[in-house]
Amino acid sequence: MYTDLEAQLHDLFWNQEDVLSELPLLEKFYDGKASLEIGCGSGRLLLPLLENGLEIDGVEISSEMTDLLKVAADSKGLNPSVVTADILDFTTSKIYDRVSVPAFTAQLLDRAGFRTMLSNMLDYTSSDAKAYLTLFIPWAEIAGELPEGDWYPDHEAKLTDGSLAQCKTKFSINRLQQALARKHQYTVTAKNGKKKTHRSAQDLQWYTLPELNLILEATGWQLETLITDLEEDTQPDSDAHILTLVIKKS
Ligand SMILES: C[S@@+](CC[C@H](N)C(=O)[O-])C[C@H]1O[C@@H](n2cnc3c(N)ncnc32)[C@H](O)[C@@H]1O
Repeated sequence: MYTDLEAQLHDLFWNQEDVLSELPLLEKFYDGKASLEIGCGSGRLLLPLLENGLEIDGVEISSEMTDLLKVAADSKGLNPSVVTADILDFTTSKIYDRVSVPAFTAQLLDRAGFRTMLSNMLDYTSSDAKAYLTLFIPWAEIAGELPEGDWYPDHEAKLTDGSLAQCKTKFSINRLQQALARKHQYTVTAKNGKKKTHRSAQDLQWYTLPELNLILEATGWQLETLITDLEEDTQPDSDAHILTLVIKKS
């Protein structure tokens, strides 16, 4: 659950990672159709596309994130329909043509939850609906290129008031179970030296393509397009770190 400094610093740190480059893919995917973003957070990917005239609703488990979204939306004169709910309990009478789960959100669900999310999506989507999932494979952790069990500096950024925001990360990995347990320590140090700290933990799952195809088949979906490392119009890279799947109902 994203709370406290993890919620407040989310967009700042993500925008440093150039994952904003998901925006063109998402804009093309939504294609002006009735759309929903699962795990929309504070609206980092949702609000810019609403400003471009798209119709996108959101569902987000963290009320701190949806509060941030509302403040940002108000400041832009936008009024998106965003529900604060766990996607596993989410129901709606609305029928969507496009559902996105960008920015690795699906990997925060356990393996059973991932399947439940995909099966439930069948209930609130049209017969020719498409869904979009962006997932990552933690190659650096798998290959031992990052120090397992030790804190390492992950992100750092200056805030507008001159404070320094930092995130340290520590992980353990289970390669057999394809599971990555991460702990984060967020610190904001004010110019006068006063510190605020927040710790969080995330259990992430990762999936390879053959397994994803089996999961899609079992949940009523099939792969339409695979995009690797957010680069469209190139052949899929077999060493890719980021997988974006556009899927359709089978
Ligand atoms: C990595 S953030 C991405 C946020 C946003 N999509 C973006 O790209 O800025 C993952 C988001 O998914 C939300 N989330 C995690 N589990 C969820 C669940 N079970 N149901 C709904 N939202 C969830 C988190 O609270 C968080 O805001």
